[in-house]
Amino acid sequence: MHNDLKDFVVPGSEEEDLLRQIDFSRLPQHLAIIMDGNGRWAKERNLPRVEGHRTGSKSVREVVETSARLGIKYLTLYAFSIENWKRPRKEVNFLWKLLEEYLRNEDKVLVENDLKLLTIGRKNRIPRSVTRQLDRVKDLTKDNKRMSVILAVNYGGRAEIVDAVKRICRGNASVVENLTEEIFSSYLDTAEVPDPDLLIRTSGELRISNFLLWQIAYAEMWITGLYWPEFRKKHLFQALIDFQKRERRFGDINAHPENRSVRATGST
Ligand code: FPP
Repeated sequence: MHNDLKDFVVPGSEEEDLLRQIDFSRLPQHLAIIMDGNGRWAKERNLPRVEGHRTGSKSVREVVETSARLGIKYLTLYAFSIENWKRPRKEVNFLWKLLEEYLRNEDKVLVENDLKLLTIGRKNRIPRSVTRQLDRVKDLTKDNKRMSVILAVNYGGRAEIVDAVKRICRGNASVVENLTEEIFSSYLDTAEVPDPDLLIRTSGELRISNFLLWQIAYAEMWITGLYWPEFRKKHLFQALIDFQKRERRFGDINAHPENRSVRATGST
């Protein structure tokens, strides 16, 4: 077990057992998460929906810390979708307040742990106070190297693609003429970030919900029935162990060189 993980799990616990099963040479480089089920978690406990979001932010802290300690390089979290504007005003305001609070409180943690904050999503409509915090923490952490935490805020996969097409069309005709998948990727919000290898979704829904539509073309999916506020490091360990059992072929008939030794589980 490497240094960052010593004292991180209780000796003899289920977590420790799971951690030992992870092959650190074959971690996903980029993990993306759809954090779903905050509202249902609260409803089942007769709490207001916003309490689900509040408790969900504790899961965010745990997943950020765990991912960094494991050695994952990019972690993308779906914090606020363009569609989330349809929710009651009170809930929308609460979500923005929570994000602002997170940024105010977690800036030190990000700095001390060498984590870089990035965002994807449309810049318009985000409350000014949130934009200020996002810009402040992004600037504060811009030279950090250990892991990038990418918050998808006011994000929609289709909107991102439309925005990229608009930028491309504003260029000269040769840009369109010579367009390749690689060049197209460089016009997306995620230009600096490799595609996700693993996509986790909580609350059991079997859909993508307009998240990273272009980027997840070959991501492995891990879906759990747990609600996001219940998600803990042991669940992340389970997802990683499962990910490492998959054979990623990227359309080829053979496994990708990095996981050729792994038994096939039927993925294409
Ligand atoms: C989905 O649950 C979750 C969201 C719309 C927002 C995610 C936000 C957080 C986890 C809070 C804090 C985030 C950060 C980055 C500090 P839902 O409300 O759709 O749940 P439901 O499907 O059960 O109604």
